[in-house]
Amino acid sequence: MPNALITGGSRGFGRELARALGETGWTVTIDGRTAATVREATEPPTGSLHGVVGTVRDHDHRVELARRAGDLDLLVNNASSLGPSPLRDLASLAPSDLHEVFDTNLVSPLALIGLLLPGLRARAGIVVNISSDAAVEAYPGWGAYGASKAGLDHAGLVLAAEFPDIAVYSFDPGDMRTDMHQAAFPGEDISDRPLPESVVPALMRLIETRPPSGRYTAAQMMSEAT
Ligand SMILES: NC(=O)c1ccc[n+]([C@@H]2O[C@H](COP(=O)([O-])OP(=O)(O)OC[C@H]3O[C@@H](n4cnc5c(N)ncnc54)[C@H](OP(=O)(O)O)[C@@H]3O)[C@@H](O)[C@H]2O)c1
Repeated sequence: MPNALITGGSRGFGRELARALGETGWTVTIDGRTAATVREATEPPTGSLHGVVGTVRDHDHRVELARRAGDLDLLVNNASSLGPSPLRDLASLAPSDLHEVFDTNLVSPLALIGLLLPGLRARAGIVVNISSDAAVEAYPGWGAYGASKAGLDHAGLVLAAEFPDIAVYSFDPGDMRTDMHQAAFPGEDISDRPLPESVVPALMRLIETRPPSGRYTAAQMMSEAT
């Protein structure tokens, strides 16, 4: 059975991806900081979905995730922080806000990759770092988040060059109707944004077709499918 770990799999895109992989024969471990939503996301128990409660920022939690997940065919670094909501300009962010965003979105995913690398290499596995268009476009208010995602994109390219036996992708899902997106646009109607489950087939296609390591968007993966 192929084996995956998805950080932040209790809500939003991560949850829908975990569900889709579980339904197609994968064993999937997820995490999240909120026990109730981790429990909900893994019920009813099917044997294919397993939850671990904690933050990716915590070393002991990452070690526990690695222990519970075992050797992996797929690691999806999906858990992410937007920073303070409403979004504010880069210069007004406190150093503590910058630390929180960069730690969650860049340092912790790299630390997790480091822990899981031997098992990923043993299975010629895939790392997917969930990115954003904010990593390549300069949107006012999105500076910390965008810079952290740009850093993760670049780190992924370096990892792919250092370890050609695994595939390393940055995947930009595009706008999705999730809690994070609502936090970016507080009080606004975001019902025109696509639901996260509609983006899952694009990532499934990336995993199944295993193109060269690099940066891919959901729109690109879906257009190549037609
Ligand atoms: N939504 C969009 O429009 C959009 C666009 C481009 C890219 N993305 C990217 O897509 C990915 C998924 O975003 P989403 O919109 O689905 O977000 P979401 O709905 O807010 O879900 C985030 C998930 O991550 C978990 N999480 C957050 N911080 C965590 C931490 N420190 N440790 C462990 N788990 C944590 C959350 O659970 P807890 O809060 O309980 O921990 C939740 O399960 C992110 O990487 C995001 O940057 C989203």
